[in-house]
Amino acid sequence: MQTQFASDALILGGGVAGLTLALTLADRAKVTVVSKAALTEGSSLYAQGGLAAVLNTRADSFDAHIADTLSAGGGLCHRDTVEYVVRQGPEAIRWLIEQGVAFTRERREDGAVGYHLTREGGHSQRRVIHAADATGKALATTLEAKVREHPNIHLFENHLAIDLITRQKLGLPGPDRCLGAYVLDKSDHQVLVLGARFVILATGGASKVYLYTSNPDTSTGDGIAMAWRAGCRVANMEFMQFHPTCLYHPRAKSFLITEALRGEGAKLSLPNGEPFMQEHDPRGELAPRDIVARAIDYEMKRRGLDFVHLDISHQPAAFITTHFPTIYERCRALGYDITREPIPVVPAAHYTCGGIVTDLHAQTDIDALYAIGECAFTGLHGANRLASNSLLECVVFAHAAAQDIGARLPTAPAPATELPAWDESRVTDADEAVVVSHNWDELRRFMWDYVGIVRTTKRLQRAQHRIDLLKEEIREYYSHFRITNDLIELRNLVLVAELIVRCAAARHESRGLHFTRDYPEPDKQLVGRDTLLSPPSFQVAAARASA
Ligand code: FAD
Ligand code: SIN
Repeated sequence: MQTQFASDALILGGGVAGLTLALTLADRAKVTVVSKAALTEGSSLYAQGGLAAVLNTRADSFDAHIADTLSAGGGLCHRDTVEYVVRQGPEAIRWLIEQGVAFTRERREDGAVGYHLTREGGHSQRRVIHAADATGKALATTLEAKVREHPNIHLFENHLAIDLITRQKLGLPGPDRCLGAYVLDKSDHQVLVLGARFVILATGGASKVYLYTSNPDTSTGDGIAMAWRAGCRVANMEFMQFHPTCLYHPRAKSFLITEALRGEGAKLSLPNGEPFMQEHDPRGELAPRDIVARAIDYEMKRRGLDFVHLDISHQPAAFITTHFPTIYERCRALGYDITREPIPVVPAAHYTCGGIVTDLHAQTDIDALYAIGECAFTGLHGANRLASNSLLECVVFAHAAAQDIGARLPTAPAPATELPAWDESRVTDADEAVVVSHNWDELRRFMWDYVGIVRTTKRLQRAQHRIDLLKEEIREYYSHFRITNDLIELRNLVLVAELIVRCAAARHESRGLHFTRDYPEPDKQLVGRDTLLSPPSFQVAAARASA
């Protein structure tokens, strides 16, 4: 079989991580970007608050940003990664400005014009650079325009990566190496074979595993699942971050209300107007998000509430509409005027702190396979990500991967040209699509109920039991029927759900985002201890690499 398309770097994912890498590499390499929907559809596009970086050196310092990140991370951040990312912060922002991202500016008291820096939970300083309340859109559209006009970048939009192709999977002797990926063309349902010298997973997070999420539909953990199946370790999947404030509305899909609203003074209260955050943390509304989300969840469950209130209406209307135009418009369309009244909010699944284990060059356990952005586990976030550190991590690690790949390109083997075709000889068209949609709903609901903000050992066992049943049903379905987008995503989500539950069950303490009633306190012995999981094929891969 002839490989249908070959390149130097095959990037799976068109978010900020994938596009930054594509642009940074494309002047010296032939790059392919695959995205399962329109190129930039993913979490990046919807990011609101901004990127954290030390930009005002009179008031802020690397040490302060490092300390805030470590403090939010609850004893599990890798200090070397934190230092690396924080110190690269100003350069990452400089690169984005050079690409043309129009961050919000302000005129200061001394008359000078500079970038406006906002504040979010867990930050001791104003250090979040942003484009009003639509930072992700500014980033994604700017990078997209440059990617589209670059002659060295080839795009496969609406193409879903199904699985990685590795030497080990093909049964080839010698050290393992990633050779490419099988990719489903969603327009004609053909599976393409894409070969590459380097493959980079930039597929985003897995928050769609929960019923309520701030994330778009693309966040189905595909990269994490593909890496696991290929033989990579994953870590800290129990630390799923719930954003405290998504708009509560029976007719609207979850819509994030940026933490910057609280950074600019918005207050949380019960629907009767009673404030409650000070009872939970002296930092009140600006405590790290694990604490704020848990406080809201606690008050809602204790009092049988469907939501709590968030109110910024004490600020001047012009300030609100200038700083938060997207939120103002969206709430207005749903019948709320944030300049005059509070809005109902609830927590929702937001960010995957764990992921594919990588080093400081973004390399995974498999040679020639990299992971960047939300799908990766770099050690930056520990037990709880500090707000606005994610987009920063995307850019910093995309640059790190580009540097590493760039240095290895001259000696890297050419892309394999004879990779086997996808085998469809034993499958037929599915007769009961309802099985897939039913299982999607069931999975997301029990993950929300049993593996959400508050966990217990019993609930985790219940979840694992249901996962086992779903896995078997999906395995059977997968081996008999032709693949579809929904089937592939469901298969990945069930695997990711299992990784979350296994990590959660292995952590006998409460720390950061992982809270279990059976072990409600942190265990001092577990400071600095990640939850590492190795797939069955990991040992084999490692043994081959060292042979
Ligand atoms: P994404 O942007 O999610 O991109 C993933 C890409 O991979 C998409 O193009 C997707 O289509 C593609 N993909 C996935 N699976 C496949 C597959 N199988 N085959 C092919 N393509 C695939 N972080 C901050 O730091 N600051 C913020 O202000 C902020 N606000 C946020 C607001 C919202 C509403 C959300 C949801 C998140 C926010 N975050 C924020 C988090 C941050 O946006 C994400 O962590 C970050 O954008 C992830 O970028 P990424 O490139 O890794 O993934
Ligand atoms: C937000 O704007 O509140 C989201 C910021 C983040 O997830 O980092």
